[in-house]
Amino acid sequence: MENRFEAGTDQWARQLGRLRDAVRQALVATQLDTVVRPPSAVLDVGCGQGTQALRLARLGHTVTGLDLSPELLDRFRGALQDEPDEVRRRVTLVEGAGETAASLGEFDVVLCHGVLMYLDDDDAMLDALVGALAPGGRLSLLVRNGLALAMRPGLLGDWAAVGPALSASGYTNRLGLPARAHTPQQLDEACGARGLRRTHWWGVRVFSDHLPGDAPPGDDIDERVAAELAVSGVDPYRQVAALTHLVYERVYERVYGL
Ligand SMILES: C[S@@+](CC[C@H](N)C(=O)[O-])C[C@H]1O[C@@H](n2cnc3c(N)ncnc32)[C@H](O)[C@@H]1O
Repeated sequence: MENRFEAGTDQWARQLGRLRDAVRQALVATQLDTVVRPPSAVLDVGCGQGTQALRLARLGHTVTGLDLSPELLDRFRGALQDEPDEVRRRVTLVEGAGETAASLGEFDVVLCHGVLMYLDDDDAMLDALVGALAPGGRLSLLVRNGLALAMRPGLLGDWAAVGPALSASGYTNRLGLPARAHTPQQLDEACGARGLRRTHWWGVRVFSDHLPGDAPPGDDIDERVAAELAVSGVDPYRQVAALTHLVYERVYERVYGL
């Protein structure tokens, strides 16, 4: 299966651990920890280098990482080499399309972070993500925020791009890749039709999106993350964040007549 992210893999890997990535991963980590109760069975679809998957395995969760990219899975395997045996034993890596996720079993938590933007059509992926969820399970989606696509060009001083961004549904991202954006309403409808209800909505990178991809975390990274966290669940800030983090719960099917 074609991986539209592939052309951006090297640049993505070079920017791991830099300021914008550090903010993204720190916020998502804190937000996830409010909904993932240990010990859970977690499936990370499009796990890439495994930042969240590895962190969750360290916390005691059993984690399966599924990704199309052999390069990023190798990176993840490399990071696992430095971990104690008990953490390594909790991680299984599978090379393959996220659209096959439902064949891997049922999980308490399914993550799909930074993936939907690279799919022309996300129906098959959403079916697979929901198909992999146990009743009562949680689905965590991290997408490009479709509510405020003019924010990034505006903050970067790319004035000519602001007008078109107001009515756009996609954009060219920092990796130079064409990508789609999603609004909470679009995902609520798509997930609602599949038996899920939204429990959380956060914004990620309200104050840090305009900074260069190679900027280092800086001495004030803890204060920056604290400030980003403070606004991440609050309107109107979450509406203008670069990324939207939504968590859904699979509603238990009611069984009548028992
Ligand atoms: C931007 S990276 C995100 C990595 C990680 N989830 C994170 O948030 O740090 C996108 C990842 O999605 C993977 N990917 C894209 N399309 C995919 C698909 N259809 N099935 C599985 N993985 C996919 C890419 O190979 C890449 O590792």
